[in-house]
Amino acid sequence: MPIELRFDTNGVDWKDAATIFERAPLGTRAPDKLERCFNNSDLVCFAWDDDVLVGIARALSDGEYQSVIYDLSILPEYQSKRLGSRMLEAILERLTTPNVILWSVLGKESFYARMGFKPMLTAMAKFEDPEASASKGYIKLG
Ligand SMILES: CC(C)(COP(=O)(O)OP(=O)(O)OC[C@H]1O[C@@H](n2cnc3c(N)ncnc32)[C@H](O)[C@@H]1OP(=O)(O)O)[C@@H](O)C(=O)NCCC(=O)NCCS
Repeated sequence: MPIELRFDTNGVDWKDAATIFERAPLGTRAPDKLERCFNNSDLVCFAWDDDVLVGIARALSDGEYQSVIYDLSILPEYQSKRLGSRMLEAILERLTTPNVILWSVLGKESFYARMGFKPMLTAMAKFEDPEASASKGYIKLG
């Protein structure tokens, strides 16, 4: 059975979603917080292999000008099978704004470049732990 993309949270077990996030790996998320941030997002995308959740992503949008995509993550055993491309294409099709941005994990920039994303030259961030973000290579401390 082909992997199905769904755009609602029906049937999602947030512990499974947190496991995908962790195993992808993107980091650690508490299932209850993950549930709230997906429910508070304007667009969600879940990839299902029959009844097994294998990929997650979400986006925020103002509906007119700007959208931002977050948390695209796929179980390792489902990566490199074009599922990420399918999910990203499906999200881009559904976002109605002319501008879409995202923050790539280091080393994944070329995956997004293939889909038409360009590096942002003036992106600025105010993070919870600037030193930790700097040590991972995401920001420059002034
Ligand atoms: C990044 C991720 C979403 C990509 O999805 P995927 O299903 O593995 O990628 P796809 O199979 O759709 O890859 C499409 C193309 O991009 C390329 N690609 C995939 N990951 C890449 C990477 N890290 N760097 C460069 N190119 C990459 C593939 O080689 C493929 O090329 P091809 O079409 O010539 O075969 C997925 O691997 C993942 O969940 N990674 C861990 C979590 C993560 O880093 N998420 C990104 C958050 S910003």
